[in-house]
Order: sequence, then C-alpha cells, then structure tokens
Amino acid sequence: MSTQTDLQSQPVEELKAFLRFPSISTQPEHAPDLDSCAEWLREKLSSIGLEAAVHSTPGSPVVVAATPRDPAKRTVLIYGHYDVQPPDPLEGWTTPPFEPRIEEGRIYARGAADNKGQILAHILGVAETLHEKGSLPVNVIFLIEGEEEIGSPNLEEFLREHREELACDLVAISDTAMAPGNKPALTYALRGIAAMELVVRGPARDLHSGLFGGAVANPVTVLSRLIASLHDENGRVRIPGFYDAVRPLEPWERTAASDLENASGGDDAIRELAGVTQLVGEKGFSTIERIGARPTAEVNGIGGGYQGAGTKTVLPKEAFAKLTFRLVADQDPAVILAAAEEYLRSQTPPGVLLEVITGHSGAAYQSDPNSPDGLAARKALAGAFGADPLLLRDGGSIPILATLKEILGVDSYLLGLANPDSRIHSPDENMLIENFLGGIRMNRLLLEALG
Ligand code: BES
Ligand code: ZN
Repeated sequence: MSTQTDLQSQPVEELKAFLRFPSISTQPEHAPDLDSCAEWLREKLSSIGLEAAVHSTPGSPVVVAATPRDPAKRTVLIYGHYDVQPPDPLEGWTTPPFEPRIEEGRIYARGAADNKGQILAHILGVAETLHEKGSLPVNVIFLIEGEEEIGSPNLEEFLREHREELACDLVAISDTAMAPGNKPALTYALRGIAAMELVVRGPARDLHSGLFGGAVANPVTVLSRLIASLHDENGRVRIPGFYDAVRPLEPWERTAASDLENASGGDDAIRELAGVTQLVGEKGFSTIERIGARPTAEVNGIGGGYQGAGTKTVLPKEAFAKLTFRLVADQDPAVILAAAEEYLRSQTPPGVLLEVITGHSGAAYQSDPNSPDGLAARKALAGAFGADPLLLRDGGSIPILATLKEILGVDSYLLGLANPDSRIHSPDENMLIENFLGGIRMNRLLLEALG
C-alpha cells in the first residue's frame, strides 16, 4: 500500500519532472522537447554515478549510460524509451497531459506508464543500490531511445555502430504491463507490427455529388469496401497467405493462457478495461489468445470527404486509411506487407487508383520464461510484488526487440510495470504509484538475481 509519504517522496517528484517534457516523437515541432528530455535523462544518469551520453541520430537522440565494465560480472542492458504518443484527443483529459497530477495513488500524465514511470524506476533502483553498496552485482547499460513510438527508425543503425559498447548478456525491459487485476507478470512474447497507408484516388477534383454521383466511382466507398474485405465473417484476415507462417501455440502456452484467464477475471475484466459491452474476434481462440497469440489487421485512422459542420454534397476526389497489422512469430513483416498490397490491389475496382505507402515494421518477439534469466526475472517480480508472476503473451509491440536479438545476439525479458488500467495511448494515462515504487524494488532484486 502506498502511504501519503510515498506520494510526496523524492522519486515521485522526479517522475513529475520527467513527465513535464512533451516528448512526442511523431510531431516534428516537438524535436526541441525530445532534446531537452534526453538531456534531463543524461544529467539524472550521470548524477547517480554512471558514465552517460546523449548521441544524436538523424531523428531523436539516444541516451546511453553505463557502469564501468567489470569483466568478471555479467552485463544487463536496460532498454526503454522517453518518447510518448500524442496526447490527442485533448478534450478527453481531466487535466492537461503534461502537467502531472496525483490522485488516489495514481500519477496522471502522457508517458506515465509508457514508458517514463518504468524507466525511471529502473534508474532509481540502480541509484539506491549504488548509494547503499557502492557497486552493482552486474554491469549495467541503459539504452533509452526517443523514437520507439514511431517504430525506432534510427535505432538499428545505432545498434550496429555501437554493438561493442552495448555488448551484454541479456536485455531487461519494463515497457509492458502487469496482468489484469494488476497481478505481476513476465511477458514472454510480444506481437510484431507492420504499418501501411492506403490512398484511393478518384476524380481530378472534388465533384458535385448530384451532377456526377452514379457515374463516377466514389473513393470513400471504394476504400470502405477495401477495408471491409480485410476480414471474413469469422473474424479471420482474408489476405491469402496471412496465416501461413503463424507458429501454433504450444500446449504449455494454452495452459498459461487459461491460468491467466482464471487468475485475472477473464473476459469480464477485459470488457471492463476496454469499456465495451461485448468482445469480438477470431473464432476458435480465447480473448487472451486473440490478443497475445494471433495476428490481426486494424484500421487506425480513416478520412476523406467533407468533415465540417452540416452537410456538403461532394463526391470527394480521394480517401485515405492508416492500417497496422499485428504479427506473431514467425510472420515476416515484409512478406505480410507485400501480400496485403497484392490482395488489396486485387480487390480494387476500375475507376480509381490505389496508392499503397508502407510504413514502419518490426517482427514479433518471444523469449523463454523458463531459461535461467527468465527464472531470475520471475524471482525479482515475485519478490517485489509479493506473488508469483503469471506468464503473459501481450498484444502490443516493441519494434526493436527482434533487432536487439539479431545484432546483440541476446534475449529480452519483459518485466512489465504498467497497471492494466493505465490507459496508455489514451486520455488520462496514469501509473499506480505503488507500481512505480514496486518497480524500484524490482530493479534491485533483478540485478541481484542476475548477478
Ligand atoms: N509500451 C508499448 C508496448 C506495450 C504496452 C506492450 C503494453 C505490451 C503491453 C510501446 O511503447 C508501444 O506502444 N509500442 C507501439 C509501437 C508502434 C507505434 C511502432 C505499439 O505497440 O503500438
Ligand atoms: Zn512503450
């Protein structure tokens, strides 16, 4: 339980300072805020005794900080990100997104649970251990980037250039969530992602919908049909070959999924978190399996035609949609994007032009929760949160995970700290202060268990 003293403690004050930076990576006008946030982190990391630097990239800077490398010790790389999603829609927030507010044991701000609360918990855990013991049981490297929320476009090259400096035995990440009911969980799989934008172009200009309607293909109608053609009536994606590489669930994973369902309130809890009256999805799989272990096609945005007040009788010249596919092992993002484009082109009627713009992508990632490091991670979570962690496959993505494995040759362990009702990417994002403070304890136990 958090006490009043905790809520006013130094760690929480520091978290507030970190949360005041509007470090929105997708909006170019916020580049100076990303720079100053990176500099704030560098100062924080160097003030606790680490060798810290801000490295510029063609995009947002990367912050790296490390203890001196003792060859007799193992090396843990702690990865996280200081960039955040846009706070929109602003009117959904109870108080402004970059003015942190504390209420009933939670801190509200954009980035609180994705990923500033978690990464600061790791920093403060290291700081406490260094302060008390003078050294850590392992070598630690912090790698904190500013472009995770836009698909980490510059991190791969950075990893290649700094692979020696970043050489490590494993990666620890807390940029994921606890299980429903705020139960501790080790996430052993995350979905991958592949982004695509569609533009359907029709007439040379917006037309009068009475004078031309009935004779000219309407791009909004065409796009709507294209989107509708992505799924069949059983919730399956209709793109040929979409499921070919999907790795089936192992028997132990189906057991872990049903343990999770039983321990965490099942579909009712998920319905409640989503604010819906009914859950839908691919037939033949439980909700937990649909979210963590099955690939999907989602529309993230759509536009075209008149959007203002009242009516306007227009036949619009174009329409667009932004799509993302969530992928699982062993789907290849490039193969999926190519198959999607081919399928959508085959569904496009004459009279319009379909433009397909592919965006960022990252493959799905899985690590073994029963490996020695997986067991050490579970021990640290159990010690910090007082219950054996559940094993989770989660639906979100951290696009760099597969690349970390490829370039550094090491596995990532996901010790999520976000409360499931943290509303990440939504208005009123928040983190339970007890999770943040528990994260500091967890870091200390983790480094001990890995040492
Ligand atoms: N922290 C999330 C991912 C996450 C959250 C995984 C909770 C599991 C549980 C991450 O910052 C995120 O949101 N990633 C984006 C990546 C994308 C924009 C390239 C995502 O998943 O949408
Ligand atoms: Zn995140």
